[in-house]
Amino acid sequence: MTTPSTTTPQSLRPAAHYTAESTWLNDPNGLVFYEGEYHLFFQNNPSGSTWGNIAWGHAVSTDLLSWEHRPVAIPEEDGEMAFSGSVVVDHRNTAGFASGERPALVAIYTAARHGTDDDPGSQAQALAFSTDGGAVWTRYAGNPVLDIGSSEFRDPKVFWHGDGDGGHWVMVVADPVEHRIGFYTSPNLIDWALASHFGPAHAVGGVWECPDLFPLRIRGTNETRWVLVVSLNPGAIAGGSGTQYFIGDFDGRVFTAERLSDSLDPSDYDWLDFGRDYYAAVSFSNVPDGRRLMIGWASNWEYANETPTGPWRSAMSLAREIELVRAADGRVHVVQAPVLPGDEVTRFEVTVPCADGVRTTLTLTPETTTDERFVISVDGSERRISCDRTTSGNTTFHPTYPSVDWAALPADTGSSVELTIIVDAHLIEVFVGDGRVTFTEQVFPQAPFSRLHRGDIDERD
Ligand code: FRU
Repeated sequence: MTTPSTTTPQSLRPAAHYTAESTWLNDPNGLVFYEGEYHLFFQNNPSGSTWGNIAWGHAVSTDLLSWEHRPVAIPEEDGEMAFSGSVVVDHRNTAGFASGERPALVAIYTAARHGTDDDPGSQAQALAFSTDGGAVWTRYAGNPVLDIGSSEFRDPKVFWHGDGDGGHWVMVVADPVEHRIGFYTSPNLIDWALASHFGPAHAVGGVWECPDLFPLRIRGTNETRWVLVVSLNPGAIAGGSGTQYFIGDFDGRVFTAERLSDSLDPSDYDWLDFGRDYYAAVSFSNVPDGRRLMIGWASNWEYANETPTGPWRSAMSLAREIELVRAADGRVHVVQAPVLPGDEVTRFEVTVPCADGVRTTLTLTPETTTDERFVISVDGSERRISCDRTTSGNTTFHPTYPSVDWAALPADTGSSVELTIIVDAHLIEVFVGDGRVTFTEQVFPQAPFSRLHRGDIDERD
């Protein structure tokens, strides 16, 4: 049974995952903590439910769970769309935009122009700034600040590198079709110089977009590693869009990956998520105590424009706190823990066995019986976990939507594994073990999934 997109119940709108009020959204942009509030900017079509007319939408939150809509921050202007980018707090007033005591917030975004038959269009990096804490944004008169004459050059993520005044700004930015990330440096956010490139490496089956780069301490040690996050579309582990990462070192100019695999098998690379719906994930800047919080776009370009909701379309993931751990095999991995919602969502904490010959199925269904379900399976023999949404409700709105996605259980998983399963209307997020494996999946059942049925099959009996 399928539901036409215009009649999908409003009850499929999630409570703790951000959605635009009545329009389209894609990537999170300019994530920044400032004066007690988390700012979420995002790719938004202010006048429609599909991608187009791209502006920076805006929302704020104090707890990362309930969001207040704010007016569009950076609109499309004279044919120039505001593609993805980041926001920094210019504490040292390096760009000179501040007026008075309050530091300026500076957005670094891609100014994007569509091409025509005889013009390829252009993508260049541009600035907008706010001197009132993020309410009113002004485009910098000297835009663009970094133009290499390309029509494929986007998604700048900027941060301050180095201690105190001796540091400099670093921009990581994608050359999407070359599958590489550029690293540029600047004293003032306005004048930029190329320092190095990284890539191609690992998954290159699609364009590279939305990079991020940040340092983290390895849990329980004094060692630091840098995490380079690269979104890829298509060609990701579960098909279509997805987010890979590289662990390495960064000296302020050059990123060096700690280990690169020669394998052509995507399951040998590091991924932030093994589901279909976690893309363009980037982290907040200016968060106190060195915490690293990320949000991803919970959709997939394969079918994002056709998901059966309305008039809002697409949501953000929950915010996730990112940490690094060293596993038993010596490898350093990202682990992720969601900022946990309360009673507004359904949550299950389950411990399942991981013994040879034992398979556990966890089936999510609506309150009243229908044949719609979402099935999580943990296979102790194969030592893997899968998520099956092939019978989860409306699966026919796009041919690539139905899927069974899987990940290997981390090698050092013991005789059981803990799962946290969060169900928030049309979004399911599964966190496996210490959060090294996660799945983000959209579902479109007629009524939200609220029950979990467990089946333990011991094939050794
Ligand atoms: C990623 C992306 C970015 C671009 C934006 C446009 O989803 O393609 O590369 O800046 O979306 O909306």
